[in-house]
Amino acid sequence: MLGRGASFLKYSCVARVPALTAPDPHVSLRDGMNLAKSSSERKRIAVIPGDGIGKEVIPEAVKVLQAAAASGGREVALTEFDWGADRYLRDGTTLPADAVAMLQRDFDAILLGAMGDPRVPTNIHAAEILLGLRFKLDLYVNARPCVLFDKRFTPLKDRTENDVNFIVFRENTEGLYVGMGGNFKKGTTDEVAIQEDVNTRKGVERIIRYAFEFAQRCGLKRVCMSDKSNALTFGHDLWQRVFKEVRAEYSGIESSHQYIDNLLMQMVRDPAQFQVIVTSNLFGDIASDLGAQLAGGLGLAPSGNIHPGQVSLFEPVHGSAPNIAGKGIANPMGAILTVGMMFEFLGLQAEAQAIDKAVRAALKEGKAPAELGGALTTREVGDWVANTVAKSGSAS
Ligand code: NAD
Ligand code: IPM
Ligand code: MN
Repeated sequence: MLGRGASFLKYSCVARVPALTAPDPHVSLRDGMNLAKSSSERKRIAVIPGDGIGKEVIPEAVKVLQAAAASGGREVALTEFDWGADRYLRDGTTLPADAVAMLQRDFDAILLGAMGDPRVPTNIHAAEILLGLRFKLDLYVNARPCVLFDKRFTPLKDRTENDVNFIVFRENTEGLYVGMGGNFKKGTTDEVAIQEDVNTRKGVERIIRYAFEFAQRCGLKRVCMSDKSNALTFGHDLWQRVFKEVRAEYSGIESSHQYIDNLLMQMVRDPAQFQVIVTSNLFGDIASDLGAQLAGGLGLAPSGNIHPGQVSLFEPVHGSAPNIAGKGIANPMGAILTVGMMFEFLGLQAEAQAIDKAVRAALKEGKAPAELGGALTTREVGDWVANTVAKSGSAS
């Protein structure tokens, strides 16, 4: 059994949770995947570098992906898509009309860099591509592990690898992100702006259940649900009621609740208390950036937008970082670890572990980018990790 601090604890557990809507709750994730039928088959991966540093970190992640696949004798077919700000500004395309059906039909997984460009202040392309894919592919789990690889990288005093080792499950298909609302008398002093917070019974239940199922399958003991039910007395009261119902089914797991304001404070005060955090879309967005920094920095944080058994999308937690884009200094490790998460999801465990090991080795040997106090460029980090994966031969 994997224990706390075990290197692949979080990622392998993501791969073990089945499609919770499947009739047989014991069906494995890969049994449920209609595309990635066996671990020996060719995997088809759509690659969307996107904007800003997405275009810098994804090539490094792909380099590592190819090194790991080659080392494990796996066949991986990559297809790149140019969706993002450049394409939008060129011809108005955001998410092409046939994109969702095509991704469902022709791909096993999607690797995305980041969306966001100062030339598109409305962020319309990001909303339609990134949020569009999350919603239209029904990727209801946003899994964001916060795992400290080396105590040197946490800003918290006297904290070690054992203290920052948890995962945030963010509801990914509803909440304040659904885009319901509008403006009245826009631009006048009487303006009204409404943004609806949509919480459905189905949506809340499946993410809470996923968190418990994950904990149970991974031998974890603690699940903390976070909401703001003291103020949001309709939407988050639903979270309260569903949480009470679901947790009653998992008597072996210690469940707790913290209001989101307290949760964020507790993450800083004593992160060791957390193993699994489950929360709403917006709160999970915020908690996962904080968690990323506790674990060393946004540039190190991977994530998966998952619907068990269906084509899912993997991306680093960070954005397009316009402030450092084009300088060649972005940390590609989050994108590289994201490939590890994607490989886990696809059943390529050994390859995923080889990637995890190589990133850890890079950090140990100081082969780090500026974000982590090192001197290596984005490309140098990618080269080092890819070479280490290629040499390791452990992915076989
Ligand atoms: P950001 O994550 O892009 O950057 C926040 C800070 O972290 C910046 O100082 C940046 O330089 C630093 N940073 C981020 N990734 C890094 C890396 N790999 N290496 C080193 N430093 C890194 O967030 P932001 O500045 O709030 O947003 C910029 C744009 O990205 C916006 O358009 C936003 O909407 C978008 N965004 C997209 C995603 C996504 O596509 N998933 C996520 C977050 C933000
Ligand atoms: C993230 C990002 C996105 C989000 C933005 C770009 C819409 O911050 O993936 O964390 O809020 O989900
Ligand atoms: Mn975010």
